[in-house]
Amino acid sequence: MRTEQPQVIYLKDYQAPEYLIDETHLTFELFEDHTLVHAQLVMRRNPARGAGLPPLVLDGQQLELLRAALDDRELQAADYQLDGDSLTVQPQAEHFTLDTSVKIHPESNTALEGLYKSGKMFCTQCEAEGFRKITYYLDRPDVMSSFTTTVIAEQHRYPVLLSNGNPTGSGPAEDGRHWATWEDPFKKPAYLFALVAGDLWCVEDTFTRQSGRDVLLRIYVEPENLDKCDHAMVSLKKSMRWDEEVYGREYDLDIFMIVAVNDFNMGAMENKGLNIFNSSCVLARAETATDAAHQRVEGVVAHEYFHNWSGNRVTCRDWFQLSLKEGFTVFRDAEFSADMNSRTVKRIEDVAYLRTHQFAEDAGPMAHPVRPDSFIEISNFYTLTVYEKGAEVVRMVRTLLGADGFRKGSDLYFERHDGQAVTTDDFIKAMEDANGVDFTQFKRWYSQAGTPRLEVSEAYDAAAQTYSLTFRQSCPPTPDKAEKLPFVIPVELGLLDAAGNDLPLQLAGEGAATAAEPATSRVLSVTEAEQTFTFQGIQAKPLPSLLRGFSAPVKLSFPYDRDQLMFLMQHDSDGFNRWEAGQQLAVQVLQELIGQHQRGEALKLDQRLITALGTVLGNPSLDPAMVAEMLSLPGEAYLTEISQVADVDAIHAAREFARQQIAEQLFDALWARYQAHREASRSTAYVASAEHFARRSLQNIALSYLMLSGKPHVLEATLEQFEHCDNMTERLTALAVLVNSPFQAERAKALEAFAEHFKDNPLVMDQWFSVQAASTLPGGLARVKALMQHPAFTLKNPNKVRALIGAFAGQNLVNFHAADGSGYRFLADLVIELNALNPQIASRQLAPLTRWRKYDEARQALMKGELERILASGELSSDVYEVVSKSLA
Ligand code: TRP
Ligand code: ZN
Repeated sequence: MRTEQPQVIYLKDYQAPEYLIDETHLTFELFEDHTLVHAQLVMRRNPARGAGLPPLVLDGQQLELLRAALDDRELQAADYQLDGDSLTVQPQAEHFTLDTSVKIHPESNTALEGLYKSGKMFCTQCEAEGFRKITYYLDRPDVMSSFTTTVIAEQHRYPVLLSNGNPTGSGPAEDGRHWATWEDPFKKPAYLFALVAGDLWCVEDTFTRQSGRDVLLRIYVEPENLDKCDHAMVSLKKSMRWDEEVYGREYDLDIFMIVAVNDFNMGAMENKGLNIFNSSCVLARAETATDAAHQRVEGVVAHEYFHNWSGNRVTCRDWFQLSLKEGFTVFRDAEFSADMNSRTVKRIEDVAYLRTHQFAEDAGPMAHPVRPDSFIEISNFYTLTVYEKGAEVVRMVRTLLGADGFRKGSDLYFERHDGQAVTTDDFIKAMEDANGVDFTQFKRWYSQAGTPRLEVSEAYDAAAQTYSLTFRQSCPPTPDKAEKLPFVIPVELGLLDAAGNDLPLQLAGEGAATAAEPATSRVLSVTEAEQTFTFQGIQAKPLPSLLRGFSAPVKLSFPYDRDQLMFLMQHDSDGFNRWEAGQQLAVQVLQELIGQHQRGEALKLDQRLITALGTVLGNPSLDPAMVAEMLSLPGEAYLTEISQVADVDAIHAAREFARQQIAEQLFDALWARYQAHREASRSTAYVASAEHFARRSLQNIALSYLMLSGKPHVLEATLEQFEHCDNMTERLTALAVLVNSPFQAERAKALEAFAEHFKDNPLVMDQWFSVQAASTLPGGLARVKALMQHPAFTLKNPNKVRALIGAFAGQNLVNFHAADGSGYRFLADLVIELNALNPQIASRQLAPLTRWRKYDEARQALMKGELERILASGELSSDVYEVVSKSLA
């Protein structure tokens, strides 16, 4: 907990370390009521910092120092200084060895950072600054060391003892205990250290590398989960193959291990050779995990595996560079998932997520550049901006360089910096050097916060047969009050003729066509505050298709009318933009309904939306997953994000009205599709493949519309699906549909049957909590409070907190934003309680309250009041303090 004024850390203050650690030798003695950690650090003065021997300041928190020795000299109390964050000693020579022994308490560590217990097993989470809760160390990513780790524990309770690298020995010890030693030959920063001890079983496989050598693959789980590892194993092997083929990157140790733990603050962690995963990101089988969960497992397994190169072999110099590894790795895993499944659908999902959540972050009090300039608590900077916007920045690099140029750049980056701790500038420099380009201006994407706006206008000159597009870019102010200079915005576009065909694109001044036809889709680089591009040889006024594939993370506006959007929905050759046109049409129609609701008028839906969706639904040649995406109206959170002042009730009423109209007017088409797809599901066994995902996604969105009709045969169909399906995707959808329906008796019965059947599977129970927490029927808060008393719920498990509290505050907007402020009070109480248990989780759950500026004055006052109450509640963790104080500033 924070005792003094929290310190702000600045990027501009970065200095290389005074000392280096060449070798780290650790011995852990695990006991039920404490753990002893003995560390021997082989150290030397950092030659880059010049002569002299300044004091050595080691990071350490919540450690009880038992002994310290410098070379062979035992240190007395007068020989060192200790405070709550550090141990300071005075080296006597350029090369020396430091020995320490400390006592720690993993058994009572509820923050889940450092060494802690998840259920009956010991595990670690060291990123970003958790290693300092294990031993005194230079806990910063530019200090890279080899590690040897010995773990000693009771044989019976902890038969499996793991750490990074290769196993080099094991054997029995006294008192029913045993030991194992692991050696990691690759130098790494402490944040990649891992240790696991428990009664674990494993699923095993091998992967044969391009070079012909085998790697042993193991996924460790508690015995009851052995039957849920196959999907992760298949995903791992696909990831290894893909990184060889697409990036030329081979795995570098002879063993790769994944361990699944139930209590974990994030999704997973890329510790060298020993990835530790939230069980939600490993375990998946048809009966217990949805299609979305299967895809998440595939994506997260890939993400952590890809870190072995983008993160571990080449790591970050300091935590301001976090996006160096995270943005790049998210981009890599997104491309992997696109290759394994449907590319367009993956892009749609990612963009919808970015625009709803990252854009909101970038417009709020916690807005920061992809490479932040300062922070109080680094755990607060594992953000959508660093991850998702960071990935968009890497995607733009590839768009500007082309696939081959990008590969040349990444080859140079890995070759040049292997074994180093580097910066985002080094990444860009490799891209520049490999391609002979200058990205000086492009790098503003790393240093300037905020989402750029790009306003586009057109002019057609019939006499000259030219068509001009003028782009005006601007970036709204962010809390740093920094001046914003123009970004480099790659805009991929096409021009459609009256028949919907793409026109050949030739800019004025470009030489007459060579032998080849000019391209029909091309990337323009917008680099000025205002810039015009003129196309020549355009015989009639075209319709532009702008920002194809969402080629830059900007808010683009062009004055399309609804008929033009319907035309693009049908004819655009870019699948992403067909969906985008549908979304823009829906936004226009919904905003009109929101206005009607606010003026107290009867709601009247523009029929063109129904016509457009009916056309999509009736087109058998479209990918069903695309149909499902197009049928999904923009979410309430997105409608909130694009509002000046969000009217929660009007947004909800408008969207529900539109859904009801769609359900009624397209009932027959939806019903036909539903029945055909349900029949296909009934007659084929579950497969986790893109084609099956697609079929079920359309089936399920159709069902959720159909149930709005309240017709008895739809209820019957829902119950049939709920009871007789063979997979969690269909079962959970049926449950969610019932939970949101007026059929009280059926709802209660289904919820009870589901809980009874799955009570021993915590991940499935998370789904059961979420579905209820997200239900927008009145009385949401009371339901959530009641569910908190359920025996399967605990605040100590982050997945449970996310499933119930996160789903309520993030997805159940009408209930959370109840006008009496009850939702806000509830969340603030929880944050205060969580602050003492798990600061990282407390801080993340706070996010909805930080968006107070989006709402009407009455709600603003209530939300601010709760933030102030949190601030005054006592000793706050640096995590919660930073978010609350910045939100109120
Ligand atoms: N590096 C992890 C990832 O792949 C992030 C992570 C896992 C993390 N656990 C954490 C970050 C705990 C902070 C705290 O994305
Ligand atoms: Zn990552």
